[in-house]
Amino acid sequence: MHIDEVLAKRRSARAFKPDPLDRALVEEILRVASLAPSNTNVQPWKVHVVAGEVRDRLEREVLAHRETDPTDAAAEFPRANKRKEPYISRMRKLGKDMYGLLEIPKGDQAAGWRQWGRNYAFFDAPVGLIFTIDKDLDQMNWIDLGLFAMAIMLAAKARGVDTCALGAWNNYWTVTRRVLDVPEDQYIAFGMALGYADETQAVNTLVADREPVEAFTTFHGF
Ligand SMILES: Cc1cc2nc3c(=O)[nH]c(=O)nc-3n(C[C@H](O)[C@H](O)[C@H](O)COP(=O)(O)O)c2cc1C
Repeated sequence: MHIDEVLAKRRSARAFKPDPLDRALVEEILRVASLAPSNTNVQPWKVHVVAGEVRDRLEREVLAHRETDPTDAAAEFPRANKRKEPYISRMRKLGKDMYGLLEIPKGDQAAGWRQWGRNYAFFDAPVGLIFTIDKDLDQMNWIDLGLFAMAIMLAAKARGVDTCALGAWNNYWTVTRRVLDVPEDQYIAFGMALGYADETQAVNTLVADREPVEAFTTFHGF
């Protein structure tokens, strides 16, 4: 596939088939993705790949833990807690479209809570990735981590493998830290589901809007 086609075809999958992924394929995707650039080539990314019993245990323990009103229900690292326009409208539009496809009515908090919990089941994907980064690195290195994640998503799609980045995994980090033995000097940044999208599920027909180039670009000197 041409790179533009890979970019156009990659979409976040939120329902996966149970079909397993070979470790060799995951390793190949990670190897290709490690060609991503990073500031002064520090390559700050670290990733835990979970499958099988460990994946299932992680899912089980996080889902049980979140029912206990835990103190780690927010990210361990600073996050903006007040969204402003135009971001809030874009976020709401995504939520409206997604919950519409899932047939979850606005205001049905129990169903919304259950659906949010699906993030911690990696939407049933057979493989989950948990990205961590040293706590003493800065925003530039987080940019590197994002570039690496995007490279994974594209390398995966080029091989017919679907993904969904999962910011949800920066919550409930005490459980993830314990189950995966993540050192205290690293933040659990986010997760990612990896597998084959179940195309029969309506949620996977979601096409998230994009703003036109002129909405986010200021050209100078043309
Ligand atoms: C860093 C990051 C974190 C995300 N976290 C979540 C998440 O926790 N749950 C989820 O369903 N989607 C998550 N997404 C997917 C976004 O909602 C999605 O990328 C966006 O709506 C654009 O849609 P597309 O990926 O289908 O093009 C995340 C995406 C990124 C880049």
